[in-house]
Amino acid sequence: MNKTDMIPHFTHHILCIGAGYVGGPTMAMIAHKCPQYRVTIVDINPERIAQWNSDRLPIYEPGLDEIVKAARGRNLFFSTDIEKGIQESDIIFVSVNTPTKTFGVGAGMAADLQYWEKTARQILESATSDKIIVEKSTLPVRTARAMERILFSTQNGVRFEVLSNPEFLAEGTAIQDLEQPDRVLIGSRQTESGLKARSTLAEVYANWVPQERILTTDIWSSELSKLVANAFLAQRISSINAIAVLCEKTEADVSQVAKAVGMDARIGPKFLNASVGFGGSCFKKDILNLVYICRYYGLNEVAKYWESVVEINEYQKEHFVMTMLNAMFNTLAGKRIALFGFAFKADTGDTRESPAIYIATRLIEEQADLVITDPKALVNAKTDLKGGEGKVQFIEDPYEAAAGSHAIAILTEWRLFRELNYERIYRSMEKPAFIFDGRNVVDHSKLYQLGFNVYPIGKPVLTHL
Ligand SMILES: NC(=O)c1ccc[n+]([C@@H]2O[C@H](COP(=O)([O-])OP(=O)(O)OC[C@H]3O[C@@H](n4cnc5c(N)ncnc54)[C@H](O)[C@@H]3O)[C@@H](O)[C@H]2O)c1
Repeated sequence: MNKTDMIPHFTHHILCIGAGYVGGPTMAMIAHKCPQYRVTIVDINPERIAQWNSDRLPIYEPGLDEIVKAARGRNLFFSTDIEKGIQESDIIFVSVNTPTKTFGVGAGMAADLQYWEKTARQILESATSDKIIVEKSTLPVRTARAMERILFSTQNGVRFEVLSNPEFLAEGTAIQDLEQPDRVLIGSRQTESGLKARSTLAEVYANWVPQERILTTDIWSSELSKLVANAFLAQRISSINAIAVLCEKTEADVSQVAKAVGMDARIGPKFLNASVGFGGSCFKKDILNLVYICRYYGLNEVAKYWESVVEINEYQKEHFVMTMLNAMFNTLAGKRIALFGFAFKADTGDTRESPAIYIATRLIEEQADLVITDPKALVNAKTDLKGGEGKVQFIEDPYEAAAGSHAIAILTEWRLFRELNYERIYRSMEKPAFIFDGRNVVDHSKLYQLGFNVYPIGKPVLTHL
């Protein structure tokens, strides 16, 4: 057998620009489900690529390690050679970050498109053959049009077709969400070449996603759907959190209210858990983006409506800090407080926009001594709290973190925190011992019986004081 016989023939060469929380798992799933495609992921960050090529992947997602390690080197590759990747591929996913702009027009609200535009220009510079460009990043409405304008400025005969294919995965359940998505959404132009590109991409997903779950729309509707999906999800959290505060004042139980309300089939039971607030890199940024677009079109009342979802979330975090402060005799100075969880949700190490960042920062302002424990997020937590040295310790073992503390605040719903021996923890703490359950995950009456003063979200306080 000569050497060329051994090179597998791939029916598509897929490239993904951006090896992050979306690019990594999404492409790993395509490579896993479609051995007939060669999938390459590139990034400008060489450290990130080195981690993807190592035994310790840069992100934690249940089930991710297995599929990456099985496909890597077979039909899944991680590289920093963006130019070569562009040249060799026929389908290019763009999954770079699109954070909120921090400067100039739209600061604090509009999406910062600099990474995305650099990518568009790089594709234009390096491409020598026709390509389908797939917007995977969440982008403001009509960005694909701008992408087209950049790409269509070439005179070298290379043709691009731009599709919108927003990602709906949730961190912590990314692999499950990618394997069995509620839907895959593909937006395209309604031209002959647009429809052809759309069906090429639909065929990729059809390798494992049932046909009826592959939705096709025009590009603008697809882009907007992603922003709206996140806005609706965040709105449910802010809605139940707003009710939780009312429950605390009136001694109703928010879990019972949520159950009764959620049993209405028109409302549904999911996403009705009261908590310390939502986090993650997307909800706030995408809503603010929506707000910015509404303002741009002069829809100020609509903008205000969606902005209030973010405002309630900010309020909820501050309300939690104030509950702690009031309960602990209006002073936290010099008190050791253990924060159980720093990730923005369970089963991820991601701390972007985590409520824990705000709460930790406020507690440091109140001169508390913090001990942070989290099974996956301590590395990110250290970066987030840079400057807090001397006031913050990071300890992997929750028992050690709690020992000698005046209070525990549960900020992430890790299963581990439900299963701890709270009797042992209680014994090791300063008295009176407080527990602030920002996720309503522990057995409140049991903890109360152990001696804790228990402060859940949206439920009556159980206190011995
Ligand atoms: N994280 C989520 O749960 C989630 C879910 C759905 C959609 N999204 C959207 O997907 C997009 C990506 O999000 P993420 O969480 O994966 O971000 P991320 O920050 O984890 O990853 C983005 C990656 O892009 C790389 N990058 C930036 N500019 C580049 C360039 N010019 N060339 C090559 N690489 C470049 C960065 O180095 C980084 O590694 C965002 O638009 C986000 O809104 C995120």
